[in-house]
Amino acid sequence: MKRKIRLALVLAAMMAAAILLATAGQGLSQSQSPRPEPQRYLGVQACAACHAEITEKQQKSMLAKAMQPVPDCQILTSHKELKFQSGKFTFEIKRQGNQSLYTVSDGAAQISVPLLYCFGQGKSGQTYVYEYNGAKYESRVSFYTAIEGLDFTLGYAKDIPANIVEAAGRQLSVDETRNCFQCHTTGSTANRQLNLEKMVPGVHCEACHGPGEKHVAAMKAGEKAGAGMKKLGELDGDDINQKLCGDCHRSAEEVFELPNRAGINSVRFQPYRIFHSRCYSADRRIGCTACHDPHGDLEASAAFYDSKCLACHTSKNEKATADRNAKACPTGKSKCTDCHMPKIDLPGAHFKFTDHRIRIAREGAPYPN
Ligand code: HEC
Ligand code: HEC
Ligand code: HEC
Ligand code: HEC
Ligand code: HEC
Ligand code: HEC
Ligand code: HEC
Repeated sequence: MKRKIRLALVLAAMMAAAILLATAGQGLSQSQSPRPEPQRYLGVQACAACHAEITEKQQKSMLAKAMQPVPDCQILTSHKELKFQSGKFTFEIKRQGNQSLYTVSDGAAQISVPLLYCFGQGKSGQTYVYEYNGAKYESRVSFYTAIEGLDFTLGYAKDIPANIVEAAGRQLSVDETRNCFQCHTTGSTANRQLNLEKMVPGVHCEACHGPGEKHVAAMKAGEKAGAGMKKLGELDGDDINQKLCGDCHRSAEEVFELPNRAGINSVRFQPYRIFHSRCYSADRRIGCTACHDPHGDLEASAAFYDSKCLACHTSKNEKATADRNAKACPTGKSKCTDCHMPKIDLPGAHFKFTDHRIRIAREGAPYPN
């Protein structure tokens, strides 16, 4: 069964990237997805026993911290008082012990709620989820590392709230809430129901590899090495981009269904962007894991990626081979990504996203959607 993207909701919020984020998710059926719903989740500790090195590395990565409950939240621990003012509205987040209190005031009315969850590491924004009147809400303000402080959550800057409850944040539907947790945590969902008791904050082993129960039992029973685990290393570029990583990073198929394909906001949907690269349409070998270690940190130096490009592209005066048959660059020899994967400044995001539509980016040319 393919879940339908709720177009009506998306349309109502065309400019709201945060809303796009929430509703666009989960376009693949579980049977198509190489990442099955984590049900018999064993937890990272179960894997650490035999995969110590990978576990140590993975647990330090951004992915492992994609969501933190407020008591453990690094940003709120190191920023004990945050304040933001816009027009008559004041937004404040104050640390009290291991809790953080969110207070919004318009000069007359005021609302005060404890925050529960920190979504995102803050590099490109951290948004808060809290409960009000039994429902979950997404905070109207987010923390951004680039400004070391609060600003509107992406998509909210032009929105004028009708009352103080709306000023504090947006109510999330049950589906949206489940989707937030499904992409930012591990083992949160069983039979499509959110189960916060089973949820482990962040993206860990079984979020990508699937539940480990069968594998661990097989290993303990002395069966063939690796038995009971999906062989993710054997997936082709297309399955990695559009299914494994695309399950959370938004597949091309999902983005195609969005109005205006999300416009410039689509720069955050790498599987969609790369789908349009000539590199990818001409040679489907290029998957996310060609450039990114799924267990490690994002590599920031442009030089690191050169060898990835040169795995297909020849250099000048070099003869093409069966594997390396793409053209040489007439302009540059190194730091290929600096010119061909431009950084795009998303208004209000306080972060430049890397355009995964690998291309010849001409000065002043419009963003190819
Ligand atoms: C379909 C999966 C998916 C859903 C659903 C989802 N996220 Fe995310 N979220 C991601 C991914 C993937 C990133 C990393 C984007 C990047 O860096 O390119 C991300 C990044 C973020 C960030 C960092 C800032 C940014 O905008 O890049 C925040 C904050 C965030 N999400 C909050 C939320 C909240 C709150 C919800 C629910 C309302 C939510 N997300 C729903 C997958 C998802
Ligand atoms: C009792 C020891 C043991 C435990 C516990 C264990 N593994 Fe393994 N696993 C192995 C061995 C042995 C192999 C084969 C050699 C290798 O790739 O390291 C393996 C292989 C794998 C592979 C590669 C499969 C392939 O063929 O491509 C993955 C992925 C994997 N394990 C994930 C996990 C995850 C996730 C957990 C935790 C839920 C886990 N393992 C727990 C012993 C274990
Ligand atoms: C279960 C959902 C999920 C899956 C599956 C997933 N990601 Fe992510 N990924 C996220 C979220 C959420 C973030 C945002 C983390 C944050 O901002 O805190 C993220 C962030 C990232 C980042 C940015 C890290 C940084 O340091 O800025 C990279 C790179 C990345 N993912 C690559 C991948 C690759 C490659 C795959 C497939 C092998 C993949 N992801 C699969 C959810 C997922
Ligand atoms: C973001 C998705 C993702 C997460 C999270 C993840 N893996 Fe992997 N893992 C992969 C992919 C994809 C491969 C296939 C090999 C490759 O492309 O690098 C892989 C390969 C492996 C392998 C076999 C190959 C190797 O490198 O030895 C093992 C073992 C493994 N993972 C264990 C783990 C453990 C243990 C954890 C948690 C601590 C974990 N993985 C978390 C995506 C992930
Ligand atoms: C899997 C192989 C492969 C990889 C990896 C790869 N490319 Fe390509 N690329 C191709 C092929 C094939 C074409 C199209 C035919 C040609 O130009 O030779 C292409 C085309 C291009 C073009 C021309 C685009 C256009 O619109 O005309 C640029 C620029 C380019 N690649 C840059 C890069 C950069 C930079 C990297 C590394 C970040 C990279 N490629 C990685 C295979 C690859
Ligand atoms: C040809 C190499 C290449 C491939 C393939 C690739 N990336 Fe990237 N990615 C990069 C580079 C370069 C950066 C920017 C690193 C930096 O400057 O910090 C990046 C950054 C990111 C980021 C951090 C946010 C941002 O916009 O800077 C995420 C998330 C990400 N990639 C996810 C993916 C996913 C998911 C896939 C597969 C659909 C993928 N990448 C495929 C090269 C690649
Ligand atoms: C200083 C910026 C810059 C750097 C660095 C750079 N390129 Fe280019 N590249 C360009 C420009 C500009 C063009 C378009 C040239 C033209 O059409 O006159 C181009 C063209 C290309 C093409 C298309 C060639 C054709 O004949 O269609 C490929 C492929 C390519 N570059 C790959 C790469 C690779 C691989 C690297 C790294 C080894 C790289 N580029 C480094 C700017 C750069």
